[in-house]
Amino acid sequence: MDKLIIQGSKKLKGEVEISGAKNAALPIIAASLLTSGFSTVNMVPDLKDVTTIGKLLTYLGAEFHYEKRKAFIHTEKIRTLEAPYDLVRTMRASILVLGPLLARFGKAKVSLPGGCAIGARPINLHLMGLEKMGADIKLESGYVIAKAKRLKGASIYLDIPSVTGTENLMMAAALAKGKTILENAAREPEVIDLANALITMGAKIQGAGESIIEIEGVDELKPIHYSIIPDRIEAGTFMTIAGITGSTILIKGCRMDHLDAPMMKLKEAGLVFEHVSDGIRVLGPSRPKSVDLKTRPYPGFPTDMQAQFMALMSIADRTSIIKETIFENRFMHVAELRRMGADITVEGGTATVRGIEKLKSAPLMATDLRASASLVVAALAAKGETTIHRLYHLKRGYEKMEEKLLRLGAEVRRVKE
Ligand code: EPZ
Repeated sequence: MDKLIIQGSKKLKGEVEISGAKNAALPIIAASLLTSGFSTVNMVPDLKDVTTIGKLLTYLGAEFHYEKRKAFIHTEKIRTLEAPYDLVRTMRASILVLGPLLARFGKAKVSLPGGCAIGARPINLHLMGLEKMGADIKLESGYVIAKAKRLKGASIYLDIPSVTGTENLMMAAALAKGKTILENAAREPEVIDLANALITMGAKIQGAGESIIEIEGVDELKPIHYSIIPDRIEAGTFMTIAGITGSTILIKGCRMDHLDAPMMKLKEAGLVFEHVSDGIRVLGPSRPKSVDLKTRPYPGFPTDMQAQFMALMSIADRTSIIKETIFENRFMHVAELRRMGADITVEGGTATVRGIEKLKSAPLMATDLRASASLVVAALAAKGETTIHRLYHLKRGYEKMEEKLLRLGAEVRRVKE
């Protein structure tokens, strides 16, 4: 296992190029299973999670090749419809093969993803939707076994606007017989990106990005040839880095229209944004202002930015109240930030962050992807040298983070444990 050693309290400067969105790449790569043929997906970030979904597709019998941010996928020879536990447990998003396999082959056996550090993360809404579309769903020794001669269109109301729930059902509905209506659907940009990719395959989808999505099933889809959107969470993370270090950073290649809520809150915290021809220049304040926050489904403030924002608030001028409303246990970063001197108390889903002048370095343990990002944010502002263990969490969702930080003048190095 690797660890990251960061010498903090340094001003950064320069520019950073945002990579493709992990949470768009994963469903779009899974969508290639909906058809037989040769698909290509461009702007795919070089991440552990991409390798994992590639391994899963290969296990199923597809040919998956990744080179220079492009995924090349042959799905002519699928030889098993079973996604095994030892692959699914390493990445929950593997559940995204359920909809496509069931829609194309009429059968799928996918290991239940199980919980993870941030919560139980059930998939009841995925299964409820597929049942409404006529699938026979059984749970047997930790696996979902789904069967359906041919899925049929249905009206499905999602109690929670689940992102991968919306994506799984949209992919299944694309090949169902008749029309499917998804109500209270997730509105994330990654859902829109998947819909756009499916439309290039010949799917008939209206309303992606709104709460009601209509899908008119077709008999067959063509392979994908598509370029995905940039990663709004990576862009938001680098904005937070500019904020906590009081630096000026040029962020290139991100979609500002995907970042309204995070930029509103970061502006309230004192960051200044300048739109320039090739990106957005972010100017960090000498000391951030305390801002209250509630995470919400898109277009609200994204839960995937909560931990990074909390690191910023830990050195803000007063007290901020942060409410995590999406996941039941997404405060794993709090204990680590406390070890750096942060003054944070947690009551249920609410964290009270009393800003202090300066964080102090400490040996830290990453627990999940976005918590590890928040430790990097904090370490860059802390006095002294911070070591972050279990770096593999970070590598799941951030492409070449240490190279990007080095180019910004950070003193950071990766060391083998
Ligand atoms: C997606 O996870 C993202 N992952 C997550 O990003 C992100 O944090 C999350 O959406 C929320 O925005 C991918 O897109 C691969 P949900 P997902 O289903 O789809 C409950 C990251 O850091 N729920 O929208 O699993 C669930 O427990 C990752 O990149 C049910 O109760 O999240 C949670 O409390 C972390 N039943 C809430 O809904 C269900 O059937 C939102 O979950 C499904 C979800």
